Amino acid sequence: MSRAIYITGGASGIGLAAARRFAREGWTVGIGDIDEIGMRRAGEELGAFTVPLDVRDRAQWAAALDAFAKHAGKIDVLLNNAGIARYGMFEEVTPEESDLQVDINVKGVINGAYAALEHLKKTRGRLVNVASVAGIVGSPGLAVYSATKHAVRGLSEALDAEFTRHGIDVTCVMPFFVETPILDAGSKGSNRTIRDAIGQSPVYTVGEAANVVWQATHGREREYIVGKAGRQASFARRFMPNRLRKRMKAAFAS
Ligand code: NAI
Repeated sequence: MSRAIYITGGASGIGLAAARRFAREGWTVGIGDIDEIGMRRAGEELGAFTVPLDVRDRAQWAAALDAFAKHAGKIDVLLNNAGIARYGMFEEVTPEESDLQVDINVKGVINGAYAALEHLKKTRGRLVNVASVAGIVGSPGLAVYSATKHAVRGLSEALDAEFTRHGIDVTCVMPFFVETPILDAGSKGSNRTIRDAIGQSPVYTVGEAANVVWQATHGREREYIVGKAGRQASFARRFMPNRLRKRMKAAFAS
C-alpha cells in the first residue's frame, strides 16, 4: 500500500507543488481546499483524491479525513498548509481581516491536528505544519499574519513533544518569500501588497518549497526553513537581535 498524504490548500502555490511532488514519488495524495475549481483541476492532473474543505469547519475536517482514509487505506501525513495573508500597517488591516487570518492560519491548523490525530496514531505518522519565516521574525506590514505563524510554530513544538507518546512527529516548515498568489495579498486599507514590500529580497520557487516539505516529511529535524535568506533572517533574529531591530525600525520610521 502506498503512503498517503493529505494536503490542505493543495489547489495552489506551495500545497499544489507539494501535491505534485508526492504524487510523482508514488504517494496517494488527498487535497482539501476552499477553492473547489482549483482543487478539482489539481485532482484531475494528479489523480488525487479531492473533497471540499474549509479548514475553519471542524465537521468538514472530520468528513474529509475519514473519506480520504477510506480511499487511501490510511493517512501517514497531514500537511497543514492552507493559509492566507493580509498586507498593510496594523491599522490598515481591518479587525475582520485579522480575525480571518487567525481563523484560517491558527484555528484551521489546530482543527487539522484534532481531526488527524486518530488517523496518525494508527500509522505512527507525521503532522507537518506550514508556518513562515514571519513565525521567526515579527514582520512589519504582516503583524497579525506574523502572529499567526508564531502560533503555528509554538503549537508545532509543543505537539511534537506531546505526540511522542503516540509515535507521531510534528515538524514545521518556514518559507521565506515563495512565488505564489499569496504575494499579491493586500488589505482593505492599503494599496500595497506583499510583492511591493519584497524589495531586493529573493523569492524562491514552489519547487524549492516542495522540496523542503518533502524533507520535513522524512527528516529528523523539527524545523525546516525554505531559502537561504530565511536561514539568514533566523540567524540574525537569534544572534543579532538589536541590529535587526534597528534595521526594521529604520525601514518603517516614516
Ligand atoms: P496560495 O495562496 O498559493 O495557496 C493557499 C491555498 O490555501 C489556496 O489554494 C487557498 O484556496 C487555500 N485556502 C485559503 N483559505 C482556505 C480555507 N479556509 N480552507 C481551505 N483552504 C484554504 O499561497 P501559498 O504561498 O502556497 O501558501 C501556502 C502556505 O505557505 C500558507 O500557509 C502561507 O502562509 C505559507 N507561506 C507562504 C509564503 C510565500 O511567500 N508564498 C511564505 C511563508 C509562508
